[in-house]
Amino acid sequence: MMVFPIGYRSCAKTVTEDWLDRWKNGRTGWHEANGNAGLKCHWPPNDCGNRVLVPLCGKTSDLLWLAERGHEVVGVELAEIAIREFFSDNNLAFQISHGDHLDRYRADDLPISIYCGDYFHFVSTPFDALYDRGALVALPPSMRPKYVAQTKQLLRRDAFRLIITLEYDQSIVQGPPFAVLPAEIVTYWDDLQRVDETDDIDTCPPKFRAAGLTAIQEVVWLSS
Ligand SMILES: C[S@@+](CC[C@H](N)C(=O)[O-])C[C@H]1O[C@@H](n2cnc3c(N)ncnc32)[C@H](O)[C@@H]1O
Repeated sequence: MMVFPIGYRSCAKTVTEDWLDRWKNGRTGWHEANGNAGLKCHWPPNDCGNRVLVPLCGKTSDLLWLAERGHEVVGVELAEIAIREFFSDNNLAFQISHGDHLDRYRADDLPISIYCGDYFHFVSTPFDALYDRGALVALPPSMRPKYVAQTKQLLRRDAFRLIITLEYDQSIVQGPPFAVLPAEIVTYWDDLQRVDETDDIDTCPPKFRAAGLTAIQEVVWLSS
């Protein structure tokens, strides 16, 4: 398995440059136009608090879905292109305010803000809940402990968490998105329950099928 040191350079490109290039060139095969089915099925009604953190949010329409359920939703995303596309795809007007590390893009008519910049520089008062789809699995193994530590710092101790992982044979094809197996998940959060899994092979990025993979499980984990 390829292991990336933090801040690695591969073929003279940093991780950051690689994500920005993907957005620039429209290589965003992970994006689900209709949002995530696992979120809609397993997000609890009203009892998980108000402020929801969505790390590495891309332009997911899940932000909209959560806001429509009454939450104040805060996403963090590196690529300004993604943020602008989120607002234009959904016909939402927004205002920008500049911060020390990250700029804030706030919708005029919905409780949605997206901070533009590196998640590892994001600071905030603690959130009530976490929705992670495509964040933990976007990061190579060496970066995940740092991501989890940063996320824990941004959450209340009893915060509700819905985390979506992928499970597949990493020896057949490399990420991102990476496989994150249960043995690793429990080292980060030992109170998570595995509540659902579906085979994602038909909708996963084409490189997986091209490499010969025949199954890839999308797994939903919930805090107890
Ligand atoms: C696999 S995509 C998932 C996007 C979104 N969660 C979804 O489900 O559609 C990962 C996203 O993380 C962003 N990203 C990667 N590293 C980041 C970082 N350090 N800080 C903020 N965003 C980052 C990328 O630009 C990309 O949009």
